[in-house]
Amino acid sequence: MKHLLTILCGIFLFVSSTVFAQNKVTLSGDLGKHTINKHIYGHFAEHLGKCIYGGLYVGENNTKIPNKDGVRMDVVNALKKMKIPNLRWPGGCFADTYQWKDGIGPKANRPKIVNVWWGNVTEDNSFGTHDFLNMCELIGPEPYLAGNVGSGTVKDLADWVQYVNFKGVSPMSDLRAKNGRENPWKVRYWGVGNEAWGCGGNMKPDYYANIYRQSATFMNASFENNERLFRIASGASDNDYNWTETLMREIPHNMLEGIAMHHYSVIDWKQKGPSTTFTEELYFKTMKEALLMDELVKRHSTIMDKYDPAKKVALVVDEWGGWYDVEPSTNPGFLFQQNTMRDAVLAGATLNIFHKYCERVRMANLAQVVNVLQSVILTNEEKMILTPTYHVLEMYNVHQDATMLPVEVQSNDYTFGNEKLPAISVSASRDKNGAVHVSLVNIDPNKAQEITINVTGVNASGVTGRILTSAKVQDYNTFENPNKIQPAAFSGASLKNNTLTVKLPPVSVVVLELK
Ligand code: AHR
Repeated sequence: MKHLLTILCGIFLFVSSTVFAQNKVTLSGDLGKHTINKHIYGHFAEHLGKCIYGGLYVGENNTKIPNKDGVRMDVVNALKKMKIPNLRWPGGCFADTYQWKDGIGPKANRPKIVNVWWGNVTEDNSFGTHDFLNMCELIGPEPYLAGNVGSGTVKDLADWVQYVNFKGVSPMSDLRAKNGRENPWKVRYWGVGNEAWGCGGNMKPDYYANIYRQSATFMNASFENNERLFRIASGASDNDYNWTETLMREIPHNMLEGIAMHHYSVIDWKQKGPSTTFTEELYFKTMKEALLMDELVKRHSTIMDKYDPAKKVALVVDEWGGWYDVEPSTNPGFLFQQNTMRDAVLAGATLNIFHKYCERVRMANLAQVVNVLQSVILTNEEKMILTPTYHVLEMYNVHQDATMLPVEVQSNDYTFGNEKLPAISVSASRDKNGAVHVSLVNIDPNKAQEITINVTGVNASGVTGRILTSAKVQDYNTFENPNKIQPAAFSGASLKNNTLTVKLPPVSVVVLELK
């Protein structure tokens, strides 16, 4: 009997070690052709809940929270460190109700309106165009303005372009100077409406294509030195491939620089599930939705390739992230949710997908930057915390504007019930100094994953790294314990004779540097 048990144990150990050994990756350091555009690391700030008011902006007269012109400095410094490359504003759904002229001039004179999309709260317009664009100058990201196409006029939009971009004498640049800003800000990125198929006007794709053509015609005339604006068409929801097909077919490509696409990782719009006390079943479903991004990007790109084989028009995933039920006893219209290790692996795996398709995906915006949905920062009065998602974005910023190095990944399965997902996800790039970075994610909450990476075309003798992980996938940072989850030095990787061996703990994100 004892003998039999020893044999069975031996068989078990052999089988489990073979299972571990299945993760195989090849990294071709000599085949890098395409750049990972830093703009896929973009963010999104909407007039929604406490994203702007309380999150980014606390008012010029606030004496409790250190601020510059009302913008809180703790958030400014954190976003700078994360290297935020662009910031989309003022919505979302709010954008197609926003009259930009309400948000300029003396603050006391600005009209108070109702934010009909997000909780019917009063919007006093104290944070407007100057506040946003000056804040971008303070932090560093390029601004991305979402124009009101759903309820605004073509002239309003053309005026906004002229107001922020025109240097010479014109009605709008004169008004800008009168409001305290002589020089234009030079805003390159412009959204032509948002979710035109839904909150942006419930339009059909053919109709929106015409509206786009009309709006875009009047949006280019005023930019300095004939520089071209980067105009982004309101794009498809998830797998609405007909939307992308229609826009690519009906809009001349010399008036279209990008087409958007939105995909949230939501398990069920009616019952999204809690942000922290979720079961493994809900976790699995969220990750399934997150990994769907690969198929969505691939299929939208294939349609775009048909009309634009040279890949001149960018696919812009300008809303993505996890979306759960709001925190108990918070305003349902404010979309405030906590952020756990689930969100960290979701972010890492999604960014790896964007890297893979970087030739076409050249911009993306995580929703949203502070206090709304999958935020990188949460605030509570004078307190601020960095979420696990923040740490992933900060660790991954080494990939910004680096050359993507192709990887082939053969992954173990992460199984739940009868379903399975790839447990690991990997991407790699070489930066302008020649350093190679490899990002790895293990979404399996139960098993560590050992990965063997065959590296070619990389002249390196050592490896260092950082890891983000925690005991449970439900773990998160709180205002009381803000550093429960933070990056740590990683010692689980070794490089020998072009073979990189890595052991990833359950639910972990690792970024390695090969030197
Ligand atoms: O990010 C929240 C909302 O989600 C945005 O306002 C809208 O564009 C999307 O439906």
